[in-house]
Amino acid sequence: MTHTGPQSAPIPPFPADFTWGVATSAYQIEGAAFEDGRGPSIWDTYCRTPGKVLGGETGDVACDHYHRWAADLDLIQSLNLNAYRFSVAWPRVVPQGRGPVNKAGLDFYDRLVDGILARGMQPHVTLYHWDLPQALQDQGGWANPDVQHWFAEYALTVYGRLGDRVASYATFNEPWCTAELGYHVGRHAPGIQDLRTSLLASYHIQLAHGRAVQALREQNTTAELGTVLNLYPVDAASDDPEDEAAARLADAKINRWYLDPVFRGVFPSLAVEHYGAAMPDVDLAALAVARQPLDFLGVNYYFRQWVSRDGVSRAGPPTPGTERTAMGWEVYPEGLYRLLTDLHRDYPVKKYYITENGAAFDDQIVGGEVRDEARVRYLRTHLSELRRAMHAGVPVAGYFAWSLMDNFEWAFGYSKRFGIVHVDYDTQQRTLKDSAKWYRDFVTGRRAAR
Ligand code: NOJ
Repeated sequence: MTHTGPQSAPIPPFPADFTWGVATSAYQIEGAAFEDGRGPSIWDTYCRTPGKVLGGETGDVACDHYHRWAADLDLIQSLNLNAYRFSVAWPRVVPQGRGPVNKAGLDFYDRLVDGILARGMQPHVTLYHWDLPQALQDQGGWANPDVQHWFAEYALTVYGRLGDRVASYATFNEPWCTAELGYHVGRHAPGIQDLRTSLLASYHIQLAHGRAVQALREQNTTAELGTVLNLYPVDAASDDPEDEAAARLADAKINRWYLDPVFRGVFPSLAVEHYGAAMPDVDLAALAVARQPLDFLGVNYYFRQWVSRDGVSRAGPPTPGTERTAMGWEVYPEGLYRLLTDLHRDYPVKKYYITENGAAFDDQIVGGEVRDEARVRYLRTHLSELRRAMHAGVPVAGYFAWSLMDNFEWAFGYSKRFGIVHVDYDTQQRTLKDSAKWYRDFVTGRRAAR
């Protein structure tokens, strides 16, 4: 396959102060699930529920990052990056979710942040990347109205230790996944399958976001505050009015259900009307608290939603030549341009970070090398579309590749490799894939061009 044409044209320079990073999350890499006082999380429970995670795999050991963090930070530094996005495990810091704080847990993140700074990089923290303390789930988890206060308190606990050494705090990572996959579809922890509970959870997540941002602002933090959403261009599979209506509804349920509360203090009426009797009996006016001034919006971009009256697909158009990843997701770089320019038109966002972008492929390690050309192409074409969006006026300040290394891909266990660094789970050996070398060289060229 040759790759000529506009997508392999040179990418124009990025701003000299652009943030270049990689991203991970606690449960996916840390392991040490029962060490140093960490409490159980809903993912520990879910992984032990037969039939939930492929091969019955768990995050008990994962990439053993809890013990190998220093070498992992060296690796990021060796890629010449200037930022690292990671998440704090709530049950490591507050094992029961509220109440006593686990000093050893905070110590870990304290060392990590110092280690990132010592290597000349910026720490970007996500407060919630899906590992709710099990003790809180036992009280209803995100469906319990008190969770907004538990979360704000936890945010303050983390801030109390990490403070302004951190460049940014994101409250949530992909809250759609928590509410929809966790409480409606049941494919993520806690595995509940109930639409009304899912809508209730999404409502409380919005309130929790607002309260946490308020609480952190009251500390006069100099760190940037924001949130991270999974967002998608949405396309109707045909120009049939029924497909087009289905696409508008999907956009309201997936994208705007999370954007509108944060930027407008409301849920989109199209979706509220659609849910009708399934809507929980809540005070929608209270959503106003979700609308706090934010310093940034984190965008996780992977694919577009391809919608017909029969449903929503991640695989893109059924046309020959459509490239797909090992997840079956369409490779659609132009979607990043479309998404960002549409967002910029519709929402008052001051600054964007691409907090995740990347792909799983069936990588093979041969003679110590991983020739993952498809991932190199993925990164290059997405960065090119990102640059194009910036040229069109979208204020993007940084890009984080997902992920630093292969890790625990939730219900898929370790079967899907998203890393730019390969992990051998038997030996915990890390090996740079060609994509990591490409990213390093790309970033090095950009940073040298200052
Ligand atoms: C988004 C999630 O934030 C991350 O945890 C996951 O591994 C990637 N998407 C890939 O599916």
